[in-house]
Amino acid sequence: MRSNFTQAAGLDTGPVPLEPYRSQAHFDLEREKIFRRAWLIMGRAEDVPNVGDYIVKEVEICGASILITHGAGGAIRAFHNVCSHRGNQVVWDTKGSRKTMFRCPYHNWTYGNDGKLLAISDEKMFFGVDKKKCGLEPIQCENWDGWIFINLNPENRVPLRAYLGSMGEFLSGIPYPNAHRSIKIQAYLKCNWKFLIDAFSESYHIPVLHSKTIGPSFSGVSDPASHLQNAEFFGPHHSISLYGNPDYRPTEAQLVEKLAYAGMQSENVLAANQSKDTEALRAHRSVNPGKSPTWSMDINEIFPNFHLDVAGGGFWTHEIWPISLDQSRYEMRFFVPKPETVREAFHQEHYIARLADVVLEDLANVERTHKGVAARAKNHMILQDNEVLIRRMMNLLDKFEQAETLEAALEACA
Ligand code: FES
Ligand SMILES: [Fe+2]
Repeated sequence: MRSNFTQAAGLDTGPVPLEPYRSQAHFDLEREKIFRRAWLIMGRAEDVPNVGDYIVKEVEICGASILITHGAGGAIRAFHNVCSHRGNQVVWDTKGSRKTMFRCPYHNWTYGNDGKLLAISDEKMFFGVDKKKCGLEPIQCENWDGWIFINLNPENRVPLRAYLGSMGEFLSGIPYPNAHRSIKIQAYLKCNWKFLIDAFSESYHIPVLHSKTIGPSFSGVSDPASHLQNAEFFGPHHSISLYGNPDYRPTEAQLVEKLAYAGMQSENVLAANQSKDTEALRAHRSVNPGKSPTWSMDINEIFPNFHLDVAGGGFWTHEIWPISLDQSRYEMRFFVPKPETVREAFHQEHYIARLADVVLEDLANVERTHKGVAARAKNHMILQDNEVLIRRMMNLLDKFEQAETLEAALEACA
């Protein structure tokens, strides 16, 4: 008998309202009740490996620019990227290294990477400024297994570990190979952010939308519809495992692909990078949790907007950032080794080009879905079991929007 993940998740099976994708009132609630309260991904500790390194990330829905610094003693901190003088943004690039200080480009107020205000230019003309009270505004910042998160609510009382709960335990200890080397794809899209979440939350579309790219690697004689192999639910977070076609081989006509994968352990795009580097990753208890021979990848979704995907050949992430009701920013990062031979370089180029093509197929779709839903011709969507995470996400958003506090939201999702 087929699995019923939807009922296992405690969800009903009826049509799901489309209003949250097109209503400004819902978007405003998402800003206040979700993005201003939840822990939000900022990146990897490897993005700021040395003292003085920094990155700047935008959280557009909250109008926030976030400065993450690596200070003396290894402390990774987060601050609002806002000068105490007249509110200018202190740092204008998105990453770099400044050993001693950040200097606001407007009037030269300078700050240490611990956020302290170090100096005010022409200080004598001010009226008794207490420099100790004029540092950069700190933001709660914690590190879980190398992932840096922030919380924009200064009153937040839920530590990151409690927020991640059993999802954090499920994924804990995964050795992420090549976490120091990533390739980023960024796109601005005219769609509500939830269409992007949905686009990467099910495999029902894969044999259809991706029929010319990865469709045949994710579906085969034993499973033409690419069913979910597993689904697990952890508070507001969740994880699914997808089917992979073990018999997939590029055809003779796919000469470039054949050459790119020749001599590798697998000719399946997601597994081809399997090497010593990824052995420990594949052995982790929560990677392919059923240790199925017909597995392709796990999609681990950390609420509200972070997907941490793991396959036999490595891992990649999606971050989905709302800008307005109908605009979003999408950020994907592939973490890949530095190629050491021409063969490896060729394979990697093919791998990235292939996955980038796949993502372009997904992205071409989301703006059209947004238009279709905004037309108000339909008021509901009809979801099947493979789309359980989409149904669950709508349910989680509702719980967060109704809850008075983050603690209450987490309790409602338990
Ligand atoms: S606004 Fe930063 S120094 Fe004036
Ligand atoms: Fe897709």
